[in-house]
Amino acid sequence: MSADSPRQKRLHVITWGCQMNVYDSGRMADVLAPLGYAPARLPEDADMVILNTCHIRDKAAEKVFSELGRLRRLKERRAAEGGRMILAVAGCVAQAEGAEILARAPFVDIVLGPQTYHRLPEMVARAARSADAVIETDFPAEDKFDFLPDSAGPQGVTAFLTIQEGCDRFCSFCVVPYTRGAETSRPAVAVIAEARRLVEQGAREITLLGQNVNAWHGEAPDGGAWGLGRLLRQLADLPGLLRLRYTTSHPRDLDDALIAAHRDLPMLMPFLHLPVQSGSDRMLAAMNRRHTAADYLRLVEKLRAARPDLALSSDFIVGHPGETEANFQATLALVREVGFAQAFSFKYSPRPGTPAAGAPAQVADDEKEQRLAELQALLREQQAGFNAGCVGRTLPVLFTGPGRHQGQVAGRSPFLQPVHVSGPADLCGREIPVEIAAALPNSLSGTLTEERARA
Ligand code: 5AD
Ligand code: SF4
Repeated sequence: MSADSPRQKRLHVITWGCQMNVYDSGRMADVLAPLGYAPARLPEDADMVILNTCHIRDKAAEKVFSELGRLRRLKERRAAEGGRMILAVAGCVAQAEGAEILARAPFVDIVLGPQTYHRLPEMVARAARSADAVIETDFPAEDKFDFLPDSAGPQGVTAFLTIQEGCDRFCSFCVVPYTRGAETSRPAVAVIAEARRLVEQGAREITLLGQNVNAWHGEAPDGGAWGLGRLLRQLADLPGLLRLRYTTSHPRDLDDALIAAHRDLPMLMPFLHLPVQSGSDRMLAAMNRRHTAADYLRLVEKLRAARPDLALSSDFIVGHPGETEANFQATLALVREVGFAQAFSFKYSPRPGTPAAGAPAQVADDEKEQRLAELQALLREQQAGFNAGCVGRTLPVLFTGPGRHQGQVAGRSPFLQPVHVSGPADLCGREIPVEIAAALPNSLSGTLTEERARA
Protein backbone atom coordinates (compact mmCIF):
# COMPACT_ATOMS: atom_id res chain seq x y z
CA MET A 1 0.00 0.00 0.00
CA SER A 2 1.28 3.47 -0.79
CA ALA A 3 -0.09 6.54 0.94
CA ASP A 4 1.14 8.80 -1.87
CA SER A 5 -1.53 8.18 -4.45
CA PRO A 6 -4.96 9.10 -3.11
CA ARG A 7 -6.56 6.78 -5.63
CA GLN A 8 -5.16 3.74 -3.92
CA LYS A 9 -7.11 4.20 -0.67
CA ARG A 10 -10.08 2.05 0.19
CA LEU A 11 -12.94 2.61 2.62
CA HIS A 12 -15.19 0.00 4.21
CA VAL A 13 -18.24 1.11 6.20
CA ILE A 14 -20.17 -1.25 8.48
CA THR A 15 -23.67 0.05 9.21
CA TRP A 16 -26.02 -0.90 12.03
CA GLY A 17 -29.43 0.48 12.84
CA CYS A 18 -31.93 2.65 11.07
CA GLN A 19 -32.22 3.98 7.52
CA MET A 20 -30.80 7.26 8.77
CA ASN A 21 -27.55 5.43 9.47
CA VAL A 22 -27.63 3.91 5.98
CA TYR A 23 -27.96 7.43 4.58
CA ASP A 24 -25.21 8.76 6.88
CA SER A 25 -22.84 5.96 5.82
CA GLY A 26 -23.36 6.99 2.20
CA ARG A 27 -22.65 10.62 3.01
CA MET A 28 -19.50 9.71 4.95
CA ALA A 29 -18.30 7.84 1.85
CA ASP A 30 -19.17 10.95 -0.23
CA VAL A 31 -17.18 13.22 2.05
CA LEU A 32 -14.13 10.94 1.89
CA ALA A 33 -14.25 10.35 -1.88
CA PRO A 34 -12.32 13.56 -2.70
CA LEU A 35 -9.53 12.26 -0.45
CA GLY A 36 -9.21 9.29 -2.74
CA TYR A 37 -11.20 6.72 -0.76
CA ALA A 38 -13.00 4.26 -3.00
CA PRO A 39 -15.30 1.57 -1.58
CA ALA A 40 -13.76 -1.71 -0.40
CA ARG A 41 -16.06 -4.72 -0.28
CA LEU A 42 -14.22 -6.30 2.66
CA PRO A 43 -12.63 -4.71 5.73
CA GLU A 44 -9.49 -6.80 5.00
CA ASP A 45 -8.95 -4.71 1.85
CA ALA A 46 -9.62 -1.33 3.45
CA ASP A 47 -7.28 1.46 4.55
CA MET A 48 -10.06 2.91 6.64
CA VAL A 49 -12.97 1.15 8.34
CA ILE A 50 -15.90 3.06 9.80
CA LEU A 51 -18.33 1.39 12.19
CA ASN A 52 -21.57 3.36 11.98
CA THR A 53 -23.31 2.35 15.18
CA CYS A 54 -26.80 2.28 16.66
CA HIS A 55 -27.64 2.79 20.33
CA ILE A 56 -31.41 2.43 20.27
CA ARG A 57 -31.75 -0.95 22.00
CA ASP A 58 -30.00 -3.87 23.60
CA LYS A 59 -26.34 -4.57 23.76
CA ALA A 60 -25.32 -1.97 21.20
CA ALA A 61 -21.97 -1.17 22.76
CA GLU A 62 -21.13 -4.86 23.22
CA LYS A 63 -21.71 -5.50 19.53
CA VAL A 64 -19.38 -2.61 18.70
CA PHE A 65 -16.63 -3.89 21.00
CA SER A 66 -16.83 -7.39 19.60
CA GLU A 67 -16.55 -6.06 16.02
CA LEU A 68 -13.67 -3.83 17.14
CA GLY A 69 -11.89 -6.90 18.50
CA ARG A 70 -12.03 -8.47 15.04
CA LEU A 71 -10.88 -5.27 13.34
CA ARG A 72 -8.02 -4.85 15.80
CA ARG A 73 -6.47 -8.05 14.43
CA LEU A 74 -6.76 -6.73 10.85
CA LYS A 75 -5.23 -3.44 11.93
CA GLU A 76 -2.33 -5.22 13.63
CA ARG A 77 -1.74 -7.39 10.58
CA ARG A 78 -1.67 -4.27 8.41
CA ALA A 79 0.81 -2.59 10.78
CA ALA A 80 3.04 -5.69 10.69
CA GLU A 81 3.10 -5.28 6.89
CA GLY A 82 4.23 -1.68 7.35
CA GLY A 83 0.86 -0.13 6.50
CA ARG A 84 -1.84 1.61 8.49
CA MET A 85 -5.55 1.02 8.83
CA ILE A 86 -7.58 3.89 10.25
CA LEU A 87 -10.44 2.74 12.46
CA ALA A 88 -13.35 5.08 13.12
CA VAL A 89 -16.44 4.62 15.27
CA ALA A 90 -19.36 6.83 14.20
CA GLY A 91 -23.05 7.09 14.99
CA CYS A 92 -25.04 7.01 18.19
CA VAL A 93 -22.86 4.67 20.29
CA ALA A 94 -19.94 6.99 19.51
CA GLN A 95 -22.04 9.95 20.59
CA ALA A 96 -23.22 8.33 23.82
CA GLU A 97 -20.09 6.43 24.85
CA GLY A 98 -17.16 8.10 23.08
CA ALA A 99 -14.81 8.26 26.06
CA GLU A 100 -15.67 4.67 27.08
CA ILE A 101 -14.85 3.46 23.55
CA LEU A 102 -11.39 5.02 23.67
CA ALA A 103 -10.77 3.68 27.17
CA ARG A 104 -11.72 0.12 26.20
CA ALA A 105 -10.41 0.18 22.64
CA PRO A 106 -7.44 2.58 22.54
CA PHE A 107 -6.50 1.33 19.07
CA VAL A 108 -9.52 3.24 17.64
CA ASP A 109 -8.30 6.32 15.74
CA ILE A 110 -11.45 8.41 15.39
CA VAL A 111 -14.70 8.67 17.35
CA LEU A 112 -17.32 10.91 15.78
CA GLY A 113 -20.95 11.69 16.53
CA PRO A 114 -23.70 11.91 13.89
CA GLN A 115 -23.51 15.69 13.69
CA THR A 116 -19.81 15.95 12.85
CA TYR A 117 -19.18 13.70 9.87
CA HIS A 118 -18.70 16.66 7.52
CA ARG A 119 -15.45 17.16 9.48
CA LEU A 120 -14.20 13.65 8.64
CA PRO A 121 -11.50 14.75 6.15
CA GLU A 122 -9.90 16.96 8.79
CA MET A 123 -10.21 14.17 11.40
CA VAL A 124 -8.58 11.67 9.02
CA ALA A 125 -5.72 14.12 8.41
CA ARG A 126 -5.24 14.60 12.15
CA ALA A 127 -5.40 10.83 12.82
CA ALA A 128 -2.88 10.17 10.05
CA ARG A 129 -0.46 12.69 11.56
CA SER A 130 -0.58 11.52 15.14
CA ALA A 131 -0.93 8.39 17.21
CA ASP A 132 -3.54 10.06 19.46
CA ALA A 133 -7.18 9.36 18.90
CA VAL A 134 -9.42 12.11 17.53
CA ILE A 135 -12.79 12.51 19.24
CA GLU A 136 -15.56 14.77 17.93
CA THR A 137 -18.88 14.26 19.67
CA ASP A 138 -20.03 17.83 20.22
CA PHE A 139 -23.07 19.32 18.50
CA PRO A 140 -21.34 21.91 16.31
CA ALA A 141 -22.86 25.32 15.68
CA GLU A 142 -22.55 24.89 11.93
CA ASP A 143 -24.95 22.66 10.03
CA LYS A 144 -23.20 19.64 8.56
CA PHE A 145 -25.44 19.75 5.48
CA ASP A 146 -23.90 23.12 4.56
CA PHE A 147 -20.48 21.49 4.44
CA LEU A 148 -21.22 18.17 2.79
CA PRO A 149 -20.53 17.73 -0.91
CA ASP A 150 -23.40 16.83 -3.21
CA SER A 151 -24.03 13.13 -3.05
CA ALA A 152 -21.24 11.56 -5.13
CA GLY A 153 -22.70 8.30 -6.32
CA PRO A 154 -26.14 7.08 -7.27
CA GLN A 155 -27.96 5.24 -4.49
CA GLY A 156 -29.99 3.21 -6.95
CA VAL A 157 -33.62 3.10 -7.99
CA THR A 158 -34.76 3.68 -4.41
CA ALA A 159 -32.97 6.39 -2.46
CA PHE A 160 -33.03 7.86 1.03
CA LEU A 161 -32.95 11.57 1.68
CA THR A 162 -32.55 12.97 5.20
CA ILE A 163 -34.71 16.05 5.69
CA GLN A 164 -34.89 16.24 9.47
CA GLU A 165 -32.72 15.13 12.36
CA GLY A 166 -32.93 14.92 16.10
CA CYS A 167 -36.03 14.91 18.23
CA ASP A 168 -37.63 17.14 20.87
CA ARG A 169 -40.28 14.63 21.99
CA PHE A 170 -38.31 12.93 24.75
CA CYS A 171 -40.21 9.65 24.95
CA SER A 172 -39.30 8.14 28.31
CA PHE A 173 -37.42 5.16 26.84
CA CYS A 174 -35.56 6.75 23.94
CA VAL A 175 -31.93 7.86 23.54
CA VAL A 176 -32.46 9.73 20.27
CA PRO A 177 -32.97 13.21 21.79
CA TYR A 178 -29.62 12.73 23.55
CA THR A 179 -27.58 11.10 20.76
CA ARG A 180 -29.03 12.97 17.78
CA GLY A 181 -29.76 16.21 19.62
CA ALA A 182 -32.47 18.82 19.15
CA GLU A 183 -34.86 18.68 16.22
CA THR A 184 -33.58 20.42 13.07
CA SER A 185 -35.18 20.65 9.63
CA ARG A 186 -33.29 21.19 6.37
CA PRO A 187 -34.58 24.02 4.17
CA ALA A 188 -37.00 23.04 1.41
CA VAL A 189 -34.70 24.36 -1.32
CA ALA A 190 -31.84 22.08 -0.17
CA VAL A 191 -34.16 19.07 0.00
CA ILE A 192 -35.62 19.72 -3.45
CA ALA A 193 -32.16 20.19 -4.97
CA GLU A 194 -30.95 16.90 -3.47
CA ALA A 195 -34.08 15.10 -4.64
CA ARG A 196 -33.55 16.45 -8.16
CA ARG A 197 -29.96 15.17 -8.15
CA LEU A 198 -31.07 11.76 -6.93
CA VAL A 199 -33.61 11.52 -9.77
CA GLU A 200 -30.96 12.59 -12.29
CA GLN A 201 -28.81 9.75 -10.95
CA GLY A 202 -31.58 7.22 -11.50
CA ALA A 203 -33.72 7.29 -8.35
CA ARG A 204 -37.39 6.60 -9.04
CA GLU A 205 -38.50 6.32 -5.42
CA ILE A 206 -37.35 8.64 -2.64
CA THR A 207 -37.91 7.99 1.05
CA LEU A 208 -37.65 11.14 3.14
CA LEU A 209 -35.94 10.37 6.42
CA GLY A 210 -36.00 11.86 9.87
CA GLN A 211 -36.09 10.61 13.44
CA ASN A 212 -39.41 12.43 13.65
CA VAL A 213 -39.85 13.19 9.97
CA ASN A 214 -43.33 14.64 10.14
CA ALA A 215 -42.12 17.28 12.59
CA TRP A 216 -40.24 18.70 9.57
CA HIS A 217 -40.85 22.44 9.35
CA GLY A 218 -38.20 23.61 6.93
CA GLU A 219 -37.67 27.07 5.58
CA ALA A 220 -39.81 27.59 2.47
CA PRO A 221 -38.36 28.99 -0.76
CA ASP A 222 -40.05 32.34 0.01
CA GLY A 223 -38.51 32.47 3.50
CA GLY A 224 -41.66 31.30 5.35
CA ALA A 225 -42.08 27.79 6.74
CA TRP A 226 -43.51 24.66 5.17
CA GLY A 227 -44.76 21.45 6.75
CA LEU A 228 -44.16 17.96 5.37
CA GLY A 229 -47.46 17.88 3.43
CA ARG A 230 -46.43 20.95 1.45
CA LEU A 231 -42.94 19.59 0.80
CA LEU A 232 -44.37 16.32 -0.52
CA ARG A 233 -46.61 18.25 -2.93
CA GLN A 234 -43.57 20.07 -4.27
CA LEU A 235 -41.51 16.89 -4.64
CA ALA A 236 -44.38 15.15 -6.41
CA ASP A 237 -43.83 17.55 -9.34
CA LEU A 238 -40.25 16.40 -9.97
CA PRO A 239 -40.13 14.93 -13.48
CA GLY A 240 -38.95 11.31 -13.46
CA LEU A 241 -39.82 10.62 -9.83
CA LEU A 242 -42.43 7.87 -9.49
CA ARG A 243 -42.83 7.28 -5.77
CA LEU A 244 -42.51 9.08 -2.46
CA ARG A 245 -42.40 7.75 1.10
CA TYR A 246 -41.40 9.17 4.46
CA THR A 247 -40.37 7.63 7.76
CA THR A 248 -40.48 7.68 10.85
CA SER A 249 -43.50 9.57 12.14
CA HIS A 250 -44.89 10.54 15.52
CA PRO A 251 -48.71 10.47 15.71
CA ARG A 252 -48.78 13.87 17.41
CA ASP A 253 -47.02 15.54 14.47
CA LEU A 254 -49.26 14.12 11.75
CA ASP A 255 -51.35 17.14 10.74
CA ASP A 256 -54.30 17.57 8.39
CA ALA A 257 -52.09 18.95 5.61
CA LEU A 258 -50.14 15.70 5.62
CA ILE A 259 -53.33 13.62 5.62
CA ALA A 260 -54.52 15.70 2.65
CA ALA A 261 -51.25 14.89 0.85
CA HIS A 262 -52.09 11.19 1.26
CA ARG A 263 -55.48 11.94 -0.29
CA ASP A 264 -54.20 14.02 -3.21
CA LEU A 265 -50.86 12.50 -4.23
CA PRO A 266 -51.15 9.06 -5.84
CA MET A 267 -47.34 8.83 -5.89
CA LEU A 268 -47.23 9.08 -2.09
CA MET A 269 -47.25 5.35 -1.44
CA PRO A 270 -50.15 3.89 0.55
CA PHE A 271 -47.94 2.53 3.31
CA LEU A 272 -47.23 4.38 6.51
CA HIS A 273 -44.95 3.50 9.39
CA LEU A 274 -46.66 5.17 12.34
CA PRO A 275 -45.30 3.91 15.67
CA VAL A 276 -47.81 3.70 18.53
CA GLN A 277 -45.58 1.80 21.02
CA SER A 278 -48.49 0.72 23.27
CA GLY A 279 -52.27 0.45 23.28
CA SER A 280 -52.56 1.37 26.97
CA ASP A 281 -53.28 4.99 27.89
CA ARG A 282 -51.49 4.46 31.19
CA MET A 283 -48.35 3.30 29.39
CA LEU A 284 -48.63 5.97 26.70
CA ALA A 285 -48.66 8.59 29.47
CA ALA A 286 -45.71 6.92 31.22
CA MET A 287 -43.88 6.90 27.89
CA ASN A 288 -44.55 10.63 27.48
CA ARG A 289 -46.12 9.98 24.09
CA ARG A 290 -48.72 12.72 24.62
CA HIS A 291 -51.55 10.90 22.88
CA THR A 292 -54.05 8.21 23.83
CA ALA A 293 -54.97 4.96 22.11
CA ALA A 294 -58.23 6.60 20.98
CA ASP A 295 -56.26 9.48 19.43
CA TYR A 296 -54.24 6.96 17.43
CA LEU A 297 -57.35 5.12 16.27
CA ARG A 298 -58.96 8.40 15.20
CA LEU A 299 -55.85 9.29 13.24
CA VAL A 300 -55.87 5.92 11.49
CA GLU A 301 -59.53 6.44 10.63
CA LYS A 302 -58.79 9.86 9.09
CA LEU A 303 -55.84 8.48 7.14
CA ARG A 304 -57.89 5.60 5.79
CA ALA A 305 -60.70 7.95 4.84
CA ALA A 306 -58.14 10.00 2.88
CA ARG A 307 -56.43 6.97 1.32
CA PRO A 308 -58.59 3.85 1.59
CA ASP A 309 -55.85 1.44 0.50
CA LEU A 310 -53.39 2.72 3.14
CA ALA A 311 -51.52 -0.10 4.90
CA LEU A 312 -50.05 0.54 8.31
CA SER A 313 -46.88 -0.43 10.10
CA SER A 314 -45.87 0.35 13.65
CA ASP A 315 -43.32 -0.06 16.43
CA PHE A 316 -44.27 -1.58 19.79
CA ILE A 317 -42.47 -1.84 23.10
CA VAL A 318 -43.49 -4.49 25.62
CA GLY A 319 -42.45 -4.39 29.25
CA HIS A 320 -41.91 -0.65 29.63
CA PRO A 321 -41.50 0.06 33.38
CA GLY A 322 -44.86 -0.22 35.11
CA GLU A 323 -46.57 -2.24 32.35
CA THR A 324 -49.14 -4.64 33.81
CA GLU A 325 -50.69 -7.64 32.11
CA ALA A 326 -53.87 -5.57 31.60
CA ASN A 327 -51.83 -2.79 29.96
CA PHE A 328 -50.27 -5.35 27.64
CA GLN A 329 -53.72 -6.73 26.77
CA ALA A 330 -54.68 -3.19 25.72
CA THR A 331 -51.82 -3.28 23.19
CA LEU A 332 -53.12 -6.56 21.75
CA ALA A 333 -56.59 -5.01 21.55
CA LEU A 334 -55.27 -2.01 19.62
CA VAL A 335 -53.40 -4.28 17.21
CA ARG A 336 -56.59 -6.25 16.58
CA GLU A 337 -58.54 -3.07 16.01
CA VAL A 338 -56.10 -1.48 13.55
CA GLY A 339 -54.81 -4.52 11.65
CA PHE A 340 -51.18 -3.94 10.66
CA ALA A 341 -49.55 -4.94 7.37
CA GLN A 342 -46.28 -5.35 9.25
CA ALA A 343 -44.69 -4.11 12.46
CA PHE A 344 -41.59 -4.11 14.62
CA SER A 345 -41.83 -5.06 18.27
CA PHE A 346 -39.24 -4.96 21.00
CA LYS A 347 -38.67 -5.80 24.63
CA TYR A 348 -38.09 -2.63 26.59
CA SER A 349 -34.36 -2.13 27.00
CA PRO A 350 -33.15 0.41 29.58
CA ARG A 351 -31.00 3.10 27.98
CA PRO A 352 -28.67 4.87 30.42
CA GLY A 353 -29.64 8.48 30.96
CA THR A 354 -33.27 8.13 29.84
CA PRO A 355 -36.09 8.67 32.39
CA ALA A 356 -37.53 5.15 32.09
CA ALA A 357 -34.18 3.51 32.85
CA GLY A 358 -34.35 4.82 36.41
CA ALA A 359 -38.03 4.00 36.99
CA PRO A 360 -38.61 1.65 39.93
CA ALA A 361 -41.18 -0.76 38.42
CA GLN A 362 -38.96 -2.58 35.90
CA VAL A 363 -40.70 -5.61 34.35
CA ALA A 364 -39.02 -9.01 34.73
CA ASP A 365 -37.29 -10.29 31.62
CA ASP A 366 -39.28 -13.53 31.35
CA GLU A 367 -42.48 -11.50 31.50
CA LYS A 368 -41.23 -9.27 28.67
CA GLU A 369 -40.21 -12.34 26.69
CA GLN A 370 -43.66 -13.89 27.04
CA ARG A 371 -45.47 -10.69 26.07
CA LEU A 372 -43.21 -10.18 23.08
CA ALA A 373 -43.85 -13.72 21.84
CA GLU A 374 -47.61 -13.23 22.15
CA LEU A 375 -47.55 -9.86 20.39
CA GLN A 376 -45.28 -11.09 17.62
CA ALA A 377 -47.51 -14.10 16.98
CA LEU A 378 -50.46 -11.76 16.46
CA LEU A 379 -48.45 -9.37 14.27
CA ARG A 380 -47.11 -12.27 12.18
CA GLU A 381 -50.65 -13.52 11.68
CA GLN A 382 -51.75 -10.05 10.53
CA GLN A 383 -48.79 -9.71 8.17
CA ALA A 384 -49.46 -13.14 6.68
CA GLY A 385 -53.12 -12.18 6.25
CA PHE A 386 -52.19 -8.93 4.57
CA ASN A 387 -49.74 -10.65 2.20
CA ALA A 388 -52.25 -13.40 1.41
CA GLY A 389 -54.81 -10.69 0.59
CA CYS A 390 -52.49 -9.46 -2.18
CA VAL A 391 -52.62 -12.79 -4.04
CA GLY A 392 -54.77 -12.49 -7.15
CA ARG A 393 -54.39 -8.71 -7.25
CA THR A 394 -52.37 -6.80 -9.83
CA LEU A 395 -49.96 -4.44 -8.06
CA PRO A 396 -47.59 -1.89 -9.56
CA VAL A 397 -44.05 -3.01 -8.77
CA LEU A 398 -41.01 -0.76 -8.96
CA PHE A 399 -38.14 -2.99 -10.04
CA THR A 400 -34.89 -2.38 -8.21
CA GLY A 401 -32.42 -5.19 -9.01
CA PRO A 402 -31.82 -8.86 -9.76
CA GLY A 403 -33.86 -11.42 -7.85
CA ARG A 404 -32.64 -14.31 -5.76
CA HIS A 405 -32.49 -16.74 -8.67
CA GLN A 406 -31.14 -16.53 -12.19
CA GLY A 407 -33.62 -14.89 -14.57
CA GLN A 408 -35.51 -13.17 -11.74
CA VAL A 409 -35.97 -9.49 -11.06
CA ALA A 410 -36.98 -8.03 -7.73
CA GLY A 411 -38.86 -4.93 -6.77
CA ARG A 412 -41.20 -3.40 -4.23
CA SER A 413 -44.96 -3.23 -4.11
CA PRO A 414 -46.64 0.03 -3.02
CA PHE A 415 -46.83 -1.57 0.45
CA LEU A 416 -43.06 -2.08 0.56
CA GLN A 417 -43.30 -5.86 0.16
CA PRO A 418 -40.42 -7.35 -1.82
CA VAL A 419 -41.81 -8.87 -5.06
CA HIS A 420 -39.99 -11.42 -7.26
CA VAL A 421 -40.89 -12.18 -10.87
CA SER A 422 -39.23 -13.95 -13.79
CA GLY A 423 -38.15 -11.28 -16.21
CA PRO A 424 -35.27 -9.39 -17.79
CA ALA A 425 -32.87 -7.27 -15.71
CA ASP A 426 -33.65 -4.21 -17.82
CA LEU A 427 -36.94 -3.80 -15.94
CA CYS A 428 -34.93 -2.06 -13.20
CA GLY A 429 -36.07 1.48 -12.63
CA ARG A 430 -39.50 0.84 -14.14
CA GLU A 431 -42.84 0.53 -12.39
CA ILE A 432 -44.85 -2.27 -13.98
CA PRO A 433 -48.09 -4.09 -13.06
CA VAL A 434 -47.53 -7.56 -11.67
CA GLU A 435 -50.13 -10.26 -11.08
CA ILE A 436 -49.40 -11.51 -7.60
CA ALA A 437 -49.43 -15.31 -7.56
CA ALA A 438 -48.10 -16.28 -4.14
CA ALA A 439 -47.36 -14.84 -0.72
CA LEU A 440 -44.45 -15.86 1.49
CA PRO A 441 -44.11 -14.59 5.10
CA ASN A 442 -42.03 -11.57 4.04
CA SER A 443 -42.38 -11.29 0.28
CA LEU A 444 -44.58 -11.88 -2.76
CA SER A 445 -44.01 -13.51 -6.10
CA GLY A 446 -45.88 -12.89 -9.30
CA THR A 447 -45.87 -12.75 -13.05
CA LEU A 448 -45.70 -9.85 -15.45
CA THR A 449 -49.03 -9.22 -17.09
CA GLU A 450 -49.01 -10.91 -20.50
CA GLU A 451 -48.71 -7.80 -22.55
CA ARG A 452 -45.71 -6.62 -20.49
CA ALA A 453 -44.03 -9.98 -20.76
CA ARG A 454 -44.30 -9.74 -24.57
CA ALA A 455 -43.06 -6.13 -24.71
N1 5AD B 1 -36.22 -0.24 24.32
C1 5AD B 1 -36.93 -0.93 23.39
N2 5AD B 1 -37.32 -0.40 22.23
C2 5AD B 1 -36.96 0.87 21.97
N3 5AD B 1 -37.18 1.66 20.91
C3 5AD B 1 -36.63 2.86 21.15
N4 5AD B 1 -36.03 2.86 22.35
C4 5AD B 1 -36.23 1.64 22.90
C5 5AD B 1 -35.86 1.03 24.11
N5 5AD B 1 -35.19 1.71 25.04
C6 5AD B 1 -37.97 1.23 19.77
C7 5AD B 1 -39.23 2.10 19.61
C8 5AD B 1 -38.89 2.98 18.45
C9 5AD B 1 -37.99 2.06 17.63
C10 5AD B 1 -37.14 2.74 16.62
O1 5AD B 1 -37.20 1.42 18.59
O2 5AD B 1 -40.32 1.25 19.34
O3 5AD B 1 -40.04 3.40 17.73
FE1 SF4 C 1 -37.39 8.66 20.26
FE2 SF4 C 1 -39.22 8.75 18.28
FE3 SF4 C 1 -39.90 9.41 20.82
FE4 SF4 C 1 -38.31 11.03 19.38
S1 SF4 C 1 -40.48 10.50 18.94
S2 SF4 C 1 -38.02 10.44 21.52
S3 SF4 C 1 -37.10 9.54 18.21
S4 SF4 C 1 -39.25 7.36 20.05
